[in-house]
Amino acid sequence: MRILIAGIDGYLGWPLAMSLANEHVLAGVDNLSRRRLVHEGGSQSAIPIADLPQRLQVLETITNRPIQLYQGDLTEHEFTKQVIGEFRPEVIVYLAEIPSAPFSMKNAKQAMFTQSNNVLGTLATLFAMNELCPDCHLLKLGTMGEYGTPKVDIPEGFFELSFRGKSDWMMFPRKAGSWYHQSKVHDTHNIEMACRIWGLKSTDIMQGVVYGTRIANQLSIDELNTRFDFDECFGTVINRFCAQAVIGMPLTPFGKGEQKRGFLPLKDSIRCLTLALENPPDRGEYRTFNQFDQVYSINEIAASVERVGNSLGLSVCIQPIDNPRIEEEVHEYRPDNTALRELGYCPSDNLEGEIKTIIEDLIPHAARIEEYRHNLMPKIRWQSID
Ligand SMILES: NC(=O)c1ccc[n+]([C@@H]2O[C@H](COP(=O)([O-])OP(=O)(O)OC[C@H]3O[C@@H](n4cnc5c(N)ncnc54)[C@H](O)[C@@H]3O)[C@@H](O)[C@H]2O)c1
Repeated sequence: MRILIAGIDGYLGWPLAMSLANEHVLAGVDNLSRRRLVHEGGSQSAIPIADLPQRLQVLETITNRPIQLYQGDLTEHEFTKQVIGEFRPEVIVYLAEIPSAPFSMKNAKQAMFTQSNNVLGTLATLFAMNELCPDCHLLKLGTMGEYGTPKVDIPEGFFELSFRGKSDWMMFPRKAGSWYHQSKVHDTHNIEMACRIWGLKSTDIMQGVVYGTRIANQLSIDELNTRFDFDECFGTVINRFCAQAVIGMPLTPFGKGEQKRGFLPLKDSIRCLTLALENPPDRGEYRTFNQFDQVYSINEIAASVERVGNSLGLSVCIQPIDNPRIEEEVHEYRPDNTALRELGYCPSDNLEGEIKTIIEDLIPHAARIEEYRHNLMPKIRWQSID
């Protein structure tokens, strides 16, 4: 298949490229904004990463297959059209968004940047697909955070809504809790409409929180490492707890720590995306997959990191802090996730094994985390008017 990875330089995009490069014709797009934003925020990837041309060159040498690189911004419609028109993808894996709730909650400038980058990039892609490759499958990364934490079960995609004796199939309502998550909700509505009125086809992935340093069969070549962020904007919770454990800093659940979310290891994320692209929807179909392995509370995760860290000889403890977010701290959470299992996804279901690998991978880079340890404590507050 001809696969365009939008956001190839990112935490997920790079391992996805590594995993697909042997069997598919790949092209990648990136504007390097993730590298820039982490740097401007005063942090760095805990695991050193090669620059994009260099990592591509190493991958091309190993696989003996060229990967076409387009460096540019997908919110620029002419650029997006040029990429899609030249490469003519059969699948676009669309990861090219600002992926941070705290970043988007800092102030108006960052909220507006997040929403314009995410919503306009996806919209430009939908227009280019409609004009140039209407048969292409858009595999778009949304987030489980779109749903919020409703008191009812969360289905995948549509549910039957009845009112005054009539019923219809409607998209399950969204209740996002940050401007970032809200940008994904806007994407979801735009993509569903493009499929309905233009006959495009898309899999919209409501992904849980990803954790991990590596994919299953990753070669131990430094240039192939994917990034691993631990700062308050771009680090995800398990990764941040592991970084705290490695430098002897207490793990810091927010508030009561009973917040529940869906989680999955990096290697499972790549496996699920591969399954989705190998099993495309029909023309005109818009479908949703809830992509996660297990639901855990933040306290359960902290306890696991503490247990594994201590078993590896670290000195790990847990010290909850005031919650900088506005969110329910004790709630029900029952999302469905059967679609990917029906396609053959076997979850790793090995949280503590994954945490062990992360901590072992981070220990040699403890000094890089230590250098930026102040970034492990949150400063952005949800009600801030900075
Ligand atoms: N990592 C997670 O835990 C997680 C969970 C749920 C959903 N997601 C979603 O998955 C996707 C990938 O996440 P990630 O963690 O790899 O993020 P990432 O920031 O590492 O990757 C996104 C890449 O896209 C690039 N990019 C951003 N805007 C662009 C633009 N306008 N034009 C071109 N390139 C652009 C960035 O430079 C970056 O390399 C995102 O859409 C994110 O919202 C991630």
